[in-house]
Amino acid sequence: MARRKKIYEGKAKTLYEGPEPGTLVQYFKDDATANNAEKHGVIEGKGVLNNRLSEFFMTGLGHIGVPTHFIKRLNMREQLIRAVEIIPLEVIVRNYAAGSMAKRLGMEEGTMLPRPIVEFSYKDDALGDPLVPEEYIIALGWASQQDLDDIVALALRVNDFMSGVMYGVGIKLIDFKIEVGRQFDGDFQRLIVADEISPDSCRLWDMETGQKLDKDVFRRDLGNLADAYTEVARRLGVLPTNTAPMGKPTLIN
Ligand code: C5P
Repeated sequence: MARRKKIYEGKAKTLYEGPEPGTLVQYFKDDATANNAEKHGVIEGKGVLNNRLSEFFMTGLGHIGVPTHFIKRLNMREQLIRAVEIIPLEVIVRNYAAGSMAKRLGMEEGTMLPRPIVEFSYKDDALGDPLVPEEYIIALGWASQQDLDDIVALALRVNDFMSGVMYGVGIKLIDFKIEVGRQFDGDFQRLIVADEISPDSCRLWDMETGQKLDKDVFRRDLGNLADAYTEVARRLGVLPTNTAPMGKPTLIN
């Protein structure tokens, strides 16, 4: 069988050419990185969990009319996605102060914010994904004012959906990151949610105990990352069912 063409390899995912023009295959790796890849680990099973969880969130978003790149899951680690032109921004939505915001402003982690805050970082590993004001984004031509208005609206819809889904399983959505892509249809451009939505890119705290169920477990050495993600998947009812090696193929008439 011919080897398929690798389009891009990131820290946690690899993109391959898809079966049809305008599609890609997104492969979820077990690699985990933190602090801009200063810390690296391989967490067995993480890719399988994130593939399922991203499928679950993106499918749900699709059902409420939020466009995403997700087409279908192909197998344990891969999903078919729409090829988009990624806007080079990390779009971060915060409901509670944590992480870099808490550090920058000297706030206690977990402080509820008066309203969700949407902020943008420039996607550049070498620079450590610096926070950028809207003014820079527009002046440097990464996105227009109209794009930014649409991105904020999209991000807030994702926030409402994700907060509600998480609330239903006793988890507080502290903050999360999405990436947004441009999908072109002739002259028409549509902005859609791309990349992934998983505990790698969210902060998720148990509502009762405050236990962290996200990548901070790895970043801060708080325990077993796969156990934390498994707990999120278990609560959402999206644990993979066929993790055992497949048996012999059976002929079906
Ligand atoms: O580190 P910081 O507090 O800015 O992160 C905010 C949110 O964005 C967190 O949920 C974090 O997991 C996510 N994030 C991400 N990828 C990055 C930076 C942040 O998914 N490169």
